[in-house]
Amino acid sequence: MLVLGIESSCDETGVALYDTESGLLAHQLHSQIAMHSEYGGVVPELASRDHIRRVLPLTTACLATAQRQLSDIDAIAYTAGPGLAGALLVGASVANAMAFALGKPTIAVHHLEGHLLSPCLAEPAPEFPFVALLVSGGHTQLMAVHGVGRYELLGETVDDAAGEAFDKSAKLIGLGYPGGPALSKLADTGDVNRFTLPRPMLHTPNLDMSFSGLKTAVLNLVTQQSPLDDTTRADICAAFQAAIVEVLLKKSLKALKQTGMKRLVIAGGVGANRQLRAALDDAAQKRGFAVFYPPLELCTDNGAMIAYAGAQRLIEQKTAGSFAVKPRWDLASLAST
Ligand code: KG4
Ligand code: ZN
Repeated sequence: MLVLGIESSCDETGVALYDTESGLLAHQLHSQIAMHSEYGGVVPELASRDHIRRVLPLTTACLATAQRQLSDIDAIAYTAGPGLAGALLVGASVANAMAFALGKPTIAVHHLEGHLLSPCLAEPAPEFPFVALLVSGGHTQLMAVHGVGRYELLGETVDDAAGEAFDKSAKLIGLGYPGGPALSKLADTGDVNRFTLPRPMLHTPNLDMSFSGLKTAVLNLVTQQSPLDDTTRADICAAFQAAIVEVLLKKSLKALKQTGMKRLVIAGGVGANRQLRAALDDAAQKRGFAVFYPPLELCTDNGAMIAYAGAQRLIEQKTAGSFAVKPRWDLASLAST
């Protein structure tokens, strides 16, 4: 079965074709980062208008790469939430209109389910069950994943998401938008021992996390050290990254211990962080568990993960497509669908 996947929840338009027999055939992405960077963050109305401009040309490009026709498509998966309402509606409208014209079903996909299953697009793919650390711009959650659609929330951030903390701290340090990759790059050149930043909720017995205090600590440090020179900037980045990586690592280890599971899956934009990957790989080797990541290019938002999640739902016949979008949508609620 051939599934077309459309992602338009935030600032990336992603389209992909996934075949249940031969795998990912094509994926195309347009990032709006350059457009939004002028404003220091995503402007929802501009995002929606840009998705409208991009989605059909990207679909045409995917079909050309995969050497398939529109009529070859068996189902159309799209991100139905969570995300920006107007942006989500673009993907939902295009998917539903195409599906109606082709007489094929639509599959409403949860954006985080897309991220969660994206490591299955890499080789080797993880087997169920596994613990998943979902670290994106809007969410930071630890989940026990028992199968497609069977997600149990173990713990989550009580305030800012990890990606949000990266982006907000980067802004305070004077880096551009989105700050995560820029902060991470600068951290590589910094001295990790010059400043120590707090590791919020590191020793709490549960699996919840908190990152807003860390961001405030960065603000205080920036104020104290101003005007910042390049070395100080890099040293603050290194201290911030070390703090956040330690919290994500320790909480992931605690989740593995608590569930007794031996597989850890990392998904979402912050999963592209080199330092986080190095710390997890090191712990996996020492403690004898396996860690899985999506292909690097599929860590951040993309259509491939939506096409893949849609295909899995098609196989399991859990394909509730509808025109409605859900800007706020709890992943654990999928267990009842
Ligand atoms: O999953 P994603 O593409 O979008 C959401 O669903 O939110 O994640 C985007 C987030 C942003 O906060 C971005 O700064 C962060 O992922 N990010 C990174 C890195 N690459 C992307 N954070 C730290 N290090 C990176 N290398
Ligand atoms: Zn995302």
